[in-house]
Amino acid sequence: MPDLNLYNNSTCFHGGAFFEAIGVEFNNLKRKETIINADVLDAWFPPAPKIEKIIQKDLGWIMKTSPPIHAEGLIRTISSRRNIDRSSILIGSGSSDLIFRILPYWLNSSSKVLLLDPTYGEYSHILKNIIRCKVEYFNLRREEGYKLNTDNLAKKLNEEFDLFVWVNPNNPTGLHIKKDEMEILLTNTKGCKRIWIDETYIEYAGRDQSLERFAEKSENIFICKSMSKVYALSGLRAAYLCASPLNIEKLKSLIPPWSMSLPAQIAATFALQEEDYYIKKYQATHALRDNLYLKLKGLGINEVIPGVANFLTFHLPEGSKPTSLILAKCVKNNLYLRNISTMGVSVNNAIRMAVKDNTTNNKMLKIFENSIKS
Ligand SMILES: Cc1ncc(COP(=O)(O)O)c(C=O)c1O
Repeated sequence: MPDLNLYNNSTCFHGGAFFEAIGVEFNNLKRKETIINADVLDAWFPPAPKIEKIIQKDLGWIMKTSPPIHAEGLIRTISSRRNIDRSSILIGSGSSDLIFRILPYWLNSSSKVLLLDPTYGEYSHILKNIIRCKVEYFNLRREEGYKLNTDNLAKKLNEEFDLFVWVNPNNPTGLHIKKDEMEILLTNTKGCKRIWIDETYIEYAGRDQSLERFAEKSENIFICKSMSKVYALSGLRAAYLCASPLNIEKLKSLIPPWSMSLPAQIAATFALQEEDYYIKKYQATHALRDNLYLKLKGLGINEVIPGVANFLTFHLPEGSKPTSLILAKCVKNNLYLRNISTMGVSVNNAIRMAVKDNTTNNKMLKIFENSIKS
């Protein structure tokens, strides 16, 4: 087990700086209307209307009542909606909760882990700063548009690793590897003790792209499903892990009773049943993102990575002002974007922008344009 004192030492650099501007004591939440928080990847759309209605109707009771101990109803709903066995599901209060409970339980300072580079920064943080294990990076190269070469990855995975973390679609690139290709690669991989596939943005690539059912039958594959970004539930904290029943059984003792709040359980349970609503929102996201992509190109930003999810990452052209200066100018105008130099050993001069609704995207582009030109 990890040395718990280490948890006090360090925190990962995140997006989310926008909350400082709103005020973390929540004294004036109206300020949120003046701020564009495109540094985090929360959904631009609200949760399905049915969820808000149900929670609002019984809010007082929901706040004061202990939830089902192990989120049994949510597990049943995931099982029936995703067609996976109940025994293959482990609930977490957000995927960060699962990552921070499970990785330190599996690994120690002599473990060896493979990460994509760039990828979601929290993984590097927990592995290097908290568990302090050996981390190797599989470089996604700017010259190759950050595309993942699966032949090279397959070769790399024949070396011995205790864990490989694969974020797909990847953050910050938004690039996606298709399920069929992943399944072939994973079936032929021999050297890796465990493979953790983070599907936080998978619904944007298509629900049928999830490897949940593949993982259920495998010996070493774990699918981490955040419900934050694709169901618009980031504030509530809901996620689950999908793996073989035996692998899930071994992890159950890490999750305390009542770990997921009642509002989160209710919202997550109904979100899974509102598929039509969410599919329409994913389709709208694609149109909004494509439009943002074209408009960024129109500003002379030629290197925009063609991601499939609710964000775009791009490099500033040669000769631009420093990224940090441009981002600081944006902040002065209440626009928060993400400098992704913290998300990879080999990335610089790159910015990640969350996709928002049309009006906000236009505002965001105007502020950004002024910041690169002034
Ligand atoms: C790839 C990836 N995994 C996990 C998370 C954390 O999500 P959650 O809200 O479920 O903790 C994020 C958040 O940005 C992410 O981008």
